[in-house]
Amino acid sequence: MAEVKTSVKNCDASAIDKTSSTAAPKRSDRKRFFTTETIPRLSHEDPRANELIAQEKPVVLTDTGLVATALGWDLDFLRINLGDGLFSVYLSDTDKFRYYDEKKRKDFGEDFLVGLERRDMKFPEFVELLQNWKEGDKRIYLQQALTDGVGKRIVIDFLGFNWNWINDQQKRNNWGQLTSNLLFIGQEGNITPVHYDEQQNFFAQISGKKKCTLFPPENFESFYPYPVHHPHDRQSQVDMDNPDFEKYPKLKQIKGYETVVEAGDVLYIPMYWWHEIESLDDCGVATSINFWYKAGPTGKIEYPLKAHQKVAMMRNIEKMITEALNNYDEVAPFMQSMVLGRYT
Ligand code: OGA
Ligand code: FE
Repeated sequence: MAEVKTSVKNCDASAIDKTSSTAAPKRSDRKRFFTTETIPRLSHEDPRANELIAQEKPVVLTDTGLVATALGWDLDFLRINLGDGLFSVYLSDTDKFRYYDEKKRKDFGEDFLVGLERRDMKFPEFVELLQNWKEGDKRIYLQQALTDGVGKRIVIDFLGFNWNWINDQQKRNNWGQLTSNLLFIGQEGNITPVHYDEQQNFFAQISGKKKCTLFPPENFESFYPYPVHHPHDRQSQVDMDNPDFEKYPKLKQIKGYETVVEAGDVLYIPMYWWHEIESLDDCGVATSINFWYKAGPTGKIEYPLKAHQKVAMMRNIEKMITEALNNYDEVAPFMQSMVLGRYT
């Protein structure tokens, strides 16, 4: 078989031309309006690592070997072994890939526009898009749950993951079941804007580098998330690169935790923590795989409630009101008449 070259960019030291207009923009030096602390990087054998996870605080584990068998998954290998199923590839007009819920998008009405399009394609098509990509094209980001449709080599590598370690974490933290493993393959400079997920996440880096910025659930008000029925539910309305402090004054209060993950690192992203993920310039694609776990059963409720428990409550109440009124336009006036002048 003829060798097909799939590197997206010539990465020989001699060939790097920093002045070239075709070079992917360096995004590691985005201007920030908030301060950050560095997320601790620890060995999985360090007792402090388990303490942080138990307290639902972020930590980078450097040596779990969780996805050691996947570290060879470059584009050539994946093209041959991923199988010929369809993969969700997102194309964005900008460097931001702001996820939207397709069901909520239908319910919300057709006037909802996003500069993001999903295209289902076979893996070699995706590689071809990457190879032929030039400045001015839509940016591309593959985001696909691994299923049993993948080839045998991938299954073998998957079975070789460090399930001992991660199953032990699941048990000791009383998490629910593993729901999915999402595979991310994206171009340098792609940004997943700030949002939260309703699951515990071990986020494993396979290749390239990602800058991950996290904020605790206490920041709910500062990020002004879209309403729950909106297609951008769980996402912040704010543009972190062009913050509108007049519209979103509490945004000024945020303080983050950040890290850069590299191949082999595993970042624990606690449930309900806000996170923004940026693929950094590293001469190739950034590949990650996450491990999403449901929350465990609710134990004895202790007061005062934690911020994430209040977020969960607000979500439920908001959903109830929206469903009962059966008209999105009535939600805000309804909530206002409940509170304004009575609790304020
Ligand atoms: C996640 C996530 C985004 C990315 O795993 O929850 O938001 O770009 N990932 O890797
Ligand atoms: Fe996420």
